[in-house]
Amino acid sequence: SPKTLNFKLVLLGESAVGKSSIVMRYVNNQFSDDRESTIGAAFLTQHMKVGEDTIKFEIWDTAGQERFVCLAPMYYRNAHAALVVYSLDSKDSFDRAVKWIEELRRQSDTHTIIILAGNKSDIPDDTKQVSPHDAQAVADEMQVEFSTTCSAKSGGGIEQLFVEIGNRLPIE
Ligand code: GTP
Ligand code: MG
Repeated sequence: SPKTLNFKLVLLGESAVGKSSIVMRYVNNQFSDDRESTIGAAFLTQHMKVGEDTIKFEIWDTAGQERFVCLAPMYYRNAHAALVVYSLDSKDSFDRAVKWIEELRRQSDTHTIIILAGNKSDIPDDTKQVSPHDAQAVADEMQVEFSTTCSAKSGGGIEQLFVEIGNRLPIE
C-alpha cells in the first residue's frame, strides 16, 4: 500500500551561493534577485511522488554566514541527505564546500547521503571559476553520492536535483 516517507535534507554552503534560492525554486517555483541572507536556518517541506509512494522532504536551509556556522551540526545531525552547495562563480565557495564534505564525513551519521551542487549555471561561461571537470574529479575523490550543476534563477536542473536525491533515499 502507498506510503509517505519523511526524509530530512539539509543544505550547507557558503553565504550567497544560492541555498535559499534553490529551495524557493523547488518548493514555490519562485526566484528573487535580491533574496535576504538567511538568519539561523529556515524550514520548508515539499512532497515528491516516487512510484505509488510519497516522499516528504523536510528541508533545513541553513545560514552560510560565519556567525551561524556553529549551528550547522544541529541541522546535519541525523540528516538523511546533505546538499552541499557552491557557486560556479566562486572558487572560494567550492573550497568551502569541500570543507563541508570533510566535516560531514567526520561528524554526521555515516548513512547521510552527500550531494554536491554547483549553482548559478546561468552565468556567462567567462565568469565561471570552477570547471565541471574539476568539480567531478573532487566529487569522485571524495566519493559523494553525485555531483551536478543547477540554476535557481533559470530553474535549470533544480527538479532533477531533487528527483536524483529522492531516488537515492532508502525506501523499503
Ligand atoms: P545565505 O542565506 O547567506 O547562506 O545565502 P544563500 O546561500 O541562501 O544564498 P541566496 O539564495 O540568498 O542567494 C544569494 C544571491 O545569489 C541572491 O542575490 C540571489 O538572487 C542570487 N542567486 C541565487 N541563485 C542564483 C542563480 O542560480 N543564478 C544567479 N545568477 N543568481 C543566483
Ligand atoms: Mg539563505
